[in-house]
Amino acid sequence: MTSRLTLAGFTEEYLVGIKELDEQHRTFFTLLDKIGKAVPDLYRPLTDDEADAIIDVLGELRDYALLHFRTEEGYMQEIGYPGLARQKQEHNRFITDVIRMEGELMNGTVMPAITIRNFMHDWYRDHILTLDKPFGQTYQKIKG
Ligand SMILES: [Fe+2]
Ligand SMILES: [Fe+2]
Repeated sequence: MTSRLTLAGFTEEYLVGIKELDEQHRTFFTLLDKIGKAVPDLYRPLTDDEADAIIDVLGELRDYALLHFRTEEGYMQEIGYPGLARQKQEHNRFITDVIRMEGELMNGTVMPAITIRNFMHDWYRDHILTLDKPFGQTYQKIKG
């Protein structure tokens, strides 16, 4: 028996009101599903082969996050957004955390895939709600 739960993905609540950024956020949550598809059971510790598969997915998620952060920071620069430095700091911390997790998996640290999936999901959710949405509102006020 496999346990494939339907895990929370993108919701309307995450919309920041800038089309390109909303599409990227949505894509990130879709890519997140690859973690669940790479292993038969999210809740048991990864085997070596599963860890390799997850490392590949993490690389893809990291690349996509980098593309997204560059795009988003570009919108912030466009309006001289005062929250840009804080955003850059948080974005960089996320990338550092992902690289650290990739390293842990390469070194044979045993963890279930759900730990990684939840970290990424919760980081994106909290980041969008607390930092990206306020930026979206500011951007629309200036550009809208
Ligand atoms: Fe952001
Ligand atoms: Fe974002």
